[in-house]
Amino acid sequence: MSAIEYREHELYCEEVPVRELAEEYGTPLYIYSKNRILENYRSIAGTLAGLDSLVCYALKANSNLSILKMLAAEGAGADVVSAGEVFLAQQAGFTPDRIAFAGVGKREDELAYALDHGVRLFNVESVAELQLLSLVALRRNTSARISLRINPDIDAQSHPYITTGLSTNKFGIEASLAPQVYALAKTLPGIEVAGIHVHVGSQITKSEPFVAAAEFIAAFVPKMRAEGIDIQHIDFGGGFGVRYVNAIRHEALPLEANAAEPIATPAQILAEVRPILEPLGGAIWIEPGRSIIADAGALLTRVLYLKESSAKKFVIVDAAMTDLLRPSLYNAYHQIVPASITTYDHLTADVVGPVCETGDFMARDRTLNRPSQGDLLAVLTAGAYGFVNTSHYNARPRPAEVLVNGDRVRLVRPRGTFEDLL
Ligand code: LLP
Repeated sequence: MSAIEYREHELYCEEVPVRELAEEYGTPLYIYSKNRILENYRSIAGTLAGLDSLVCYALKANSNLSILKMLAAEGAGADVVSAGEVFLAQQAGFTPDRIAFAGVGKREDELAYALDHGVRLFNVESVAELQLLSLVALRRNTSARISLRINPDIDAQSHPYITTGLSTNKFGIEASLAPQVYALAKTLPGIEVAGIHVHVGSQITKSEPFVAAAEFIAAFVPKMRAEGIDIQHIDFGGGFGVRYVNAIRHEALPLEANAAEPIATPAQILAEVRPILEPLGGAIWIEPGRSIIADAGALLTRVLYLKESSAKKFVIVDAAMTDLLRPSLYNAYHQIVPASITTYDHLTADVVGPVCETGDFMARDRTLNRPSQGDLLAVLTAGAYGFVNTSHYNARPRPAEVLVNGDRVRLVRPRGTFEDLL
């Protein structure tokens, strides 16, 4: 099922024309297809069927409570990176035995909060963190299970800001140092060695970096076991890429560049990785975020004004970098399409927001269906790292979020108000 697609000339989210959503709830508005989220989750979980495995949804991608509740009810685990995410995961119904606490800079009070709330699995990123965790656990008369996050020095061939597995990145422990850190972990009170965590980056569109990471683990784990380090838990991170370019096609839409570029699906990647990791035995956890939620969401925005200078044309919309930061931060590409196709005529312009920053844009030099003032546009594939990165900059209240299930619509976060700005 395609969650957000055209029927004739009208864009729908499941059974609802997106035009109706904007009329009812205003813009900018995040819309999500419930069934697409479930379908994405189930297809990933299905590829690991028969293994001792858990798909831990990475809350950082989108932590709307209603979405979290759906995934918790499906049996997903949770990958969290802050005490706030532990809180949200538990509010949503993820049991503590299904929560893994990752992150390069966990504060002492966050470690304590997690332990006090029953979370026991920590992906540890440094010796200093390991020592602190031991202390915090000891003070509570409990113990923490740990996986060391090992940096395998693999290039994920993704955007430099979201590549995490290179030796120059801040993440993880250098592989050559791992044996001595494991040896230390074994001696620390309040620490139980559980496994290994490897994560090489996000929006990875090819299988090679995943295969390289899996091969690294397959070579590394037996070596550690031979040294008496009992690794039984493999946390195989690394974000499956999604299609941002040409996410939707219609004869009226301009064909976008790189349209044919293949993107390996999670199922294809896991099919290659599974035979490498399975012989190691033990549990395999993965921690996808984007691939579960990105293509299930879009940001609806209205055209405020059209303007032309001698050098450029501008489409000024009511969504800004405060609502969707990805274009400004990573020069990220999101396809932008009309809610109702009224013309086959195209226009090349910058699509910009109202915020007082030149970097506030949704797209640059983009060919679009020629919009008119007041038209409704959809910024596609915006479900992941969209709402979670909103801000109040320029005193702009946050956008609302709705969840669509068939022909039913639920407001899952009301629009921010001026009171929130105080
Ligand atoms: N686990 C760890 C340790 C991570 O660092 C990440 C993402 C994930 C899991 C989830 O990865 P995913 O399946 O979503 O690719 N704001 C950026 C993405 C930052 C990703 C950071 N880490 C963006 O908008 O593209």
